[in-house]
Amino acid sequence: MDDRPALRDELLTAVQAASSVDDLERIRISALGKKGRITALMKNLGQMDPEVRREAGAALNVLKDEVAAALDARKAALADAELDARLAAERVDVTLPPRPETEGSIHPISQTIDEIVAIFGEMGFAVAEGPDIEDDWYNFTALNIPPEHPARQEMDTFYLPGHLPGHLPGHLPGERDGRRMVLRTHTSPVQIRTMLKTPPPLRVIAPGRTYRCDSDATHSPMFHQVEGLVVDESTHMGHLKGCLIEFCRTFFAVDDLPVRFRASYFPFTEPSAEVDIGCTRKDGAFRIGHGDDWLEILGCGMVNPKVLDNCGIDSGRYQGFAFGMGIERIAMLKYGIPDLRTFFDSDLRWLRHYGFRALAVPSLVTGLAP
Ligand code: PHE
Repeated sequence: MDDRPALRDELLTAVQAASSVDDLERIRISALGKKGRITALMKNLGQMDPEVRREAGAALNVLKDEVAAALDARKAALADAELDARLAAERVDVTLPPRPETEGSIHPISQTIDEIVAIFGEMGFAVAEGPDIEDDWYNFTALNIPPEHPARQEMDTFYLPGHLPGHLPGHLPGERDGRRMVLRTHTSPVQIRTMLKTPPPLRVIAPGRTYRCDSDATHSPMFHQVEGLVVDESTHMGHLKGCLIEFCRTFFAVDDLPVRFRASYFPFTEPSAEVDIGCTRKDGAFRIGHGDDWLEILGCGMVNPKVLDNCGIDSGRYQGFAFGMGIERIAMLKYGIPDLRTFFDSDLRWLRHYGFRALAVPSLVTGLAP
């Protein structure tokens, strides 16, 4: 019992000197564990006289509590220190400038779609969507494209095997049972889906993928279009022209870009037109703007009343215009990309060269392209 003060000093000094939670645990086991030194002294109490035992027992309990308290206090101090060290090591300097983003870039098709959305968004157009796999009612019939039309021929259109069962609302009388599934050949079926779903007034664009059996330097079997549709009670050809002239000039960033409307034919518009923009071609060099040449960039027209009727919209009351434009085409023109096939080669060198910065979202305020 006489070595108690020495044991106390030894243990408390060891606790103070401990530099980790593991050290503390070793000290705890050596003193208070099953075979620990204080535990051993406690066990000895049984062999003592009752008088001596009471006094010695009380003193041992004090020692035990003292050592336990010292262990707890030191453990808390070490935990605090460890947390401080971790906080210091993991500190983030929020005042550092961001690292330049060099890894990814925006594909020119995505960039061009974003620019188109920014321009038409400013004019009050919403973005509509439809599926890539259509059926022949949406893709052709509802758009007033007759059964014998060349666009429906097997050689131009990717048909999927089999028919969808059943009839659609608005299916034309005499239409064969069932619908043939096709990869949409244009974005115009989104006109139909929009008109069936939402009552006029309507003002939407629908960018997306389209498919035709065609492949050379200027045609890819998968390509992109953007559709436009405006329907209300008083929209006329003047609105169609103003809207598209404004688009062309803003998109190509040429304020006085010549824009020409040339009479044409589409089954779903009446009257119809194709739109050309002014350009110069001299000695292989090509420039958009004033010049002696024209380049066709889109098709448009006043929505054919038959199409409105097919969608359950009263063609005696409503009218509107529609347009469709190839996205690769105008991207190639604006960004000087010579071969359409390179868009879909996924060549990283090409993407690094023609891609756009990820954080520079096009807008009419900050600028369309960086
Ligand atoms: N869908 C037509 C095409 O692919 C383009 C177009 C759309 C023309 C809307 C007029 C109106 O060629």
